[in-house]
Amino acid sequence: MMSKFAKATRLIILVAGVALAGCQARAPQASPAELAAKAVALAPGDVRLADLYAHACKACHAVAGSGAPLAGDRAAWAPRAAKGMSGLMGSVVGGYKGMPAGGQCFSCTPADYQALVRFMADQPVN
Ligand code: HEC
Repeated sequence: MMSKFAKATRLIILVAGVALAGCQARAPQASPAELAAKAVALAPGDVRLADLYAHACKACHAVAGSGAPLAGDRAAWAPRAAKGMSGLMGSVVGGYKGMPAGGQCFSCTPADYQALVRFMADQPVN
């Protein structure tokens, strides 16, 4: 028969285990406020791209509630990334719903657009 001490110890281990499992399950999920703060803080590492981004895409893609998928919000970008780079380039160049044609970037090359999409999506886009 188990002692009271052993029972209590098992209970504590069980409770701690459940609590830890809960933390692990929640950890990758950033709150909307955290995602918004992250989007505002993010900038491409490359100087030219950072300049293009700051003067164009950032006006919407770092503004929560703009309808634009936020920079660094991988979950929001996942279904976009699934369209593939050629599909997304069609949206960037031609416009797509609230996304204006060219993304208000007048000196972006096709390579710039692709790099900006990969930066904002924060995941491979092929
Ligand atoms: C005036 C606001 C605005 C600017 C500036 C802007 N975007 Fe967007 N963008 C949007 C909105 C809004 C959407 C979401 C459209 C929708 O799905 O309803 C979007 C969506 C996108 C998408 C996903 C399109 C799709 O097919 O799902 C890409 C890629 C994108 N933007 C790239 C860019 C890039 C690159 C820049 C800068 C060169 C940029 N955007 C600048 C508002 C903007």
